[in-house]
Amino acid sequence: MTMEALPQVCFLNRRVNPPTMPAPEGRKGYNRVSLHRDPDLEVAAARWIAGGESSLHGHGDSAACYCVISGVIEEERYFPHPDGSYHYERVRLEAGQRSDLPAGAFHKVKALTDSVTLHYYMPAPCDATEAVPAETLKLLIEAKARSLPQKLGERIHERPAAA
Ligand SMILES: [Fe+2]
Repeated sequence: MTMEALPQVCFLNRRVNPPTMPAPEGRKGYNRVSLHRDPDLEVAAARWIAGGESSLHGHGDSAACYCVISGVIEEERYFPHPDGSYHYERVRLEAGQRSDLPAGAFHKVKALTDSVTLHYYMPAPCDATEAVPAETLKLLIEAKARSLPQKLGERIHERPAAA
């Protein structure tokens, strides 16, 4: 299977019941279960409680994709550029929508409602929630900061003129 085949897999997975998973325990806002793992592919499901969030993390050399099976997810994601910088965006994903992260990307996921997500990693990652190296974290903070003035400017621009 290739990453290109995943949209169809996501579609098929929407037609089956979400996996039966125990609710998250303690202060952790989600519970993750690996459903399949071989050297080329890992498939995992996660059950989230409203307000549950992941750490800011990467997936090593693996490309990742996840589908929202139920609920609503907010994701902050950082895409690597060839020049070494990152592009930041924040998105809201509802049931049936997906997110694709190339190798080297980072993200932070938060459940806005109780949610179930299905995750794919190619190849199977050594660590599916790999911590962000300190030197990279600085670049991610810069990428997020760069996106803010533009959004503030858009809001100011959209404000109706005073009468
Ligand atoms: Fe992730």
